[in-house]
Amino acid sequence: MNDIVLQQLVDQADLSDSLLADIMEKRKQRLQANMQHDPAIRLAPPGYETPFPEIWKDAVAILAQGKNLLLKGPTGSGKTKLAETLSYFFGQQLYSVNCSVDLDAEALLGFKTLVQKDGQTVIDFVPGPVIRAMREGQLLYVDEINMAKAETLPILNSVLDYRRQLTNPFTGETIYASEGFGVIAAMNEGYIGTLPLNEALKNRFVILDIPYLQGERLKKLLLNQSLQKDESVIERFVRLSSDLMTQAETGQIAEEAVSIRALLDACDLSLHIPPLRAIERSIAGKMDDDREKAAVMNIAETLF
Ligand SMILES: Nc1ncnc2c1ncn2[C@@H]1O[C@H](COP(=O)(O)OP(=O)(O)OP(=O)(O)O)[C@@H](O)[C@H]1O
Ligand SMILES: [Mg+2]
Repeated sequence: MNDIVLQQLVDQADLSDSLLADIMEKRKQRLQANMQHDPAIRLAPPGYETPFPEIWKDAVAILAQGKNLLLKGPTGSGKTKLAETLSYFFGQQLYSVNCSVDLDAEALLGFKTLVQKDGQTVIDFVPGPVIRAMREGQLLYVDEINMAKAETLPILNSVLDYRRQLTNPFTGETIYASEGFGVIAAMNEGYIGTLPLNEALKNRFVILDIPYLQGERLKKLLLNQSLQKDESVIERFVRLSSDLMTQAETGQIAEEAVSIRALLDACDLSLHIPPLRAIERSIAGKMDDDREKAAVMNIAETLF
């Protein structure tokens, strides 16, 4: 099964033979090394359905060249799923940090602690996700990068540019990234609590816009991921998504109404409760004002 999934990802990436051979050889080596290091290590499962072939192809090309990738898109559009699928494709672990308001240097880099060594108490440093990913040559996923406090992320400037190194302020040690180290960041633009991304930081990334999946590919995703297996019901949910998208594009309802996460919830629930109520609970209920709620339910009533 995994070979089929990998083959599909290879086909969709449509890479040159030499680049593909290089990626697959490194993948094999990394999987072997991971296995030796810790047999319990499992890579995140793949499963990203690309809305357009270019999104998957470009994401692979960007990471293969060791460039930092910034995924920009609304909530529930599959950014985390894409990062996980890339981690699977490259055979690398994904170390995550979430830049919620209290993210600080320790959450990124690690912290000092007291440990017992040969009967003595000594200070040891426990490496955080950034240092682990750098040392081991794995992938770092920086989620909600535009939620971080302005003073925190500049610590990463030297990690994110050609230097690929960092002086650990807690130990004074300089850490050099190992071969394969890569960075994927994600952000929703304009949500409450987000800040415009600092220019120097943004400048260090290649940007990929991630839209909501639609049409036949969305149908495939729902058939795969939803508990609801009735194809005719799923087709109606796909149409619902498309109609909601049209309304969101004209500004009638908020963009999050089209969230694939919310759609999956509604689709799952429709197995046990009437679809309209499932839509009310999973999609309409999240709209901020009553006019938007009514607009979502009006569309739903034309389909269910
Ligand atoms: N294109 C896609 N391919 C596969 N699964 C998807 C896709 N888009 C959304 N999903 C599914 O929808 C759900 C939400 O996706 P995910 O968590 O990746 O979104 P996100 O963009 O990271 O959202 P947030 O900004 O809120 O973190 C998951 O269950 C995911 O599997
Ligand atoms: Mg996410």
